[in-house]
Amino acid sequence: MSISNADFVIAWKNVLEQCQLKPGEQVAILTSDDSNMQIVECARTAAGLLGGIITMINLPMINGDKALSRDKSGYVGQTTQLGVNTSALAALKAADLVVDTLQLLFSHEQEEILKSGTRMLLAVEPPETMLRMIPSPEAKNKVIAANRYMEPAKEMTVTSKAGTDFRCKLGQYPVLLQYGLADEPGRWDHWPSCMIARWPDEGSAEGLIVIDEGDILLPFKRYAADKIYLTIEKGFVTKIEGGWTAEYMKSFMDSFNDPDAYAMAHVGWGLENRANWTTLGLYDREAALSMDARCFAGNFLFSTGPNTEAGGSRDTPCHLDIPLRGCSLSLDGVPMTKDGVVVHD
Ligand SMILES: [Fe+2]
Repeated sequence: MSISNADFVIAWKNVLEQCQLKPGEQVAILTSDDSNMQIVECARTAAGLLGGIITMINLPMINGDKALSRDKSGYVGQTTQLGVNTSALAALKAADLVVDTLQLLFSHEQEEILKSGTRMLLAVEPPETMLRMIPSPEAKNKVIAANRYMEPAKEMTVTSKAGTDFRCKLGQYPVLLQYGLADEPGRWDHWPSCMIARWPDEGSAEGLIVIDEGDILLPFKRYAADKIYLTIEKGFVTKIEGGWTAEYMKSFMDSFNDPDAYAMAHVGWGLENRANWTTLGLYDREAALSMDARCFAGNFLFSTGPNTEAGGSRDTPCHLDIPLRGCSLSLDGVPMTKDGVVVHD
């Protein structure tokens, strides 16, 4: 079901207020030719109602001819002309708040903008999904509460009845807290989000991850048709075995011809009770990024590829996000999820 502009403007006003938007602040709304115009127009109206000084910045996309799909998470990091568009980059760095409907995530330019103190809120999911999972103080508190365990943790272990037996060390890279609000200087977030994650220490990820039938593969936006067995050694996926789904996944990763594509990236768990494992089956694949899949409560979300977002140097455009059901995740032996259910306070 679609939503009305009136409801969406009210939601945007709420979210921008939670992002600490104050009258007189500079708001840049970043668009491209494929931006969702309901998001753009309702964000612009709400920012105006709150007294923001608005600048619209439209950038052409590039690399469409290199990516294997139109999905913005299927080829990340180097997809805009911002690297050579110095005037647009200067404007974004000068803004107090950027609403990103284009998806700069994983780009060097995003890191540069954030370092200048600009707050950035990514907004690319379908408006009705954003409204269903509107950020709230309660959702933020859940993520902050999870971080009481994540921040001091030295080791993550994950097991499942399907056969997953994974472990990694933690501490080298910062925690990724996503609750859908860019509410502090230099903070990036994505509306909708409610999850916590961290990158394993370099070379420490080891074990076996079993993607079970029905688990979700992103950016393919498909449920796995059969089991995939991933062997992880010294921080890299070294074997991808199984049936045709495994063959498909391996073939996609191989197509980038980049060893960094096989690195383990962020690992964590979803905390959003309003997100649904089933939603992916109800949308056309090009209609959404599927934050439902990334955030549903109790998932074990692991990923492969880049770590620039965490301050690392791997900037491969190949990034897979894979949320598993039914896993038990512990930090330093303390259970965070048990059989796919959040159990920490
Ligand atoms: Fe990811």
